[in-house]
Amino acid sequence: MKVAVLGAAGGIGQSLSLLFKAQLPAHFEISLYDLSPVTPGIAVDLSHIPTQPKIAGFCGDDPSAALEGADIVMIPAGVARKPGMDRSDLFNFNATVIHKLIGYCARVCPNACIGIITNPVNTTVPIAAEVLAKAGVYDKRKLFGITTLDVIRAETFVAQARGLDPSRVRVPVIGGHSGTTILPLLSQVAGCQFDDEEASVITDHVQNAGTEVVHAKAGGGSATLSMAMAGFRFTQALARALSGEPGVVEYAYVEGNTDYARFFAQGVRLGRHGIEEWLDIGPLSPLERQELDSMLASLRGDIALGEQFAREH
Ligand code: NAD
Ligand code: LMR
Repeated sequence: MKVAVLGAAGGIGQSLSLLFKAQLPAHFEISLYDLSPVTPGIAVDLSHIPTQPKIAGFCGDDPSAALEGADIVMIPAGVARKPGMDRSDLFNFNATVIHKLIGYCARVCPNACIGIITNPVNTTVPIAAEVLAKAGVYDKRKLFGITTLDVIRAETFVAQARGLDPSRVRVPVIGGHSGTTILPLLSQVAGCQFDDEEASVITDHVQNAGTEVVHAKAGGGSATLSMAMAGFRFTQALARALSGEPGVVEYAYVEGNTDYARFFAQGVRLGRHGIEEWLDIGPLSPLERQELDSMLASLRGDIALGEQFAREH
């Protein structure tokens, strides 16, 4: 199985590539691509880690060599936030990056599963879908906006609030990946109950955790290490499902079958061809229902922006 990382020389890209080389099973091949000329060197560096996956690095304007034969493409290419910026401020630069890279994916590895990390995810995923559709290769089972960082944050903060082992906590997070569109479903956490006040505090923390990191890094970028861990968790799950393991469920921002919005983060059961089943979001508390209703206009606006960009390019 071949995994490609586009944007591999960046903060997320390097850490994700390290996790891939250190942790993926022997039959994996890893290819790294970035505009940066340091990328082949990153691959040489990682190749000295004594694990079996093969690794190669490519740079320059054309990612084709890295994409050749890829089964999974993870994309953290683009610019990151600085203090005072919103994720939507990244749109102008990152929309063009995603438009270009997905064009190459459509031509070189049209059957690959693609995970988009690049912000604003609410908008870059619709752009990707439109580019793939224009090329005649869009398969909604195979395109994912990566929202796993929201999930692992929610799991961490719930575990802290209840003194639990975070690796055993599971928290569904639905909606999108910015501000109030990030909605953890705390009413569905097994074995935990939260009143509205505590639920609001934890929800607020999950929604603002990205900004918390941006401020703490004081101009040095946004979350990279926790994002790499989240991207690794998602890729591992997807790879297991593509290899035939049954019952693999993750949350991601996908084109689903709900009336909420064309793209919506929800639970998906993964299989040999990507998404096998879009899972129902389940029962919501009155507070969650209210939060869901009030974020939809913003989410739909983000999606429309991406669709419009793709129409005009
Ligand atoms: P970074 O600046 O450290 O790295 C970005 C890399 O992308 C750089 O190496 C750059 O050379 C490369 N790049 C830029 N344009 C490219 C192109 N056209 N082709 C190939 N490579 C290109 O940034 P980072 O901290 O790694 O963040 C990357 C993106 O991920 C940002 O948009 C950030 O907002 C986003 N992000 C998303 C999540 C999420 O939960 N989905 C979490 C954290 C960060
Ligand atoms: C995050 O949630 O950490 C990322 O989306 C990066 C950001 O800009 O907050």
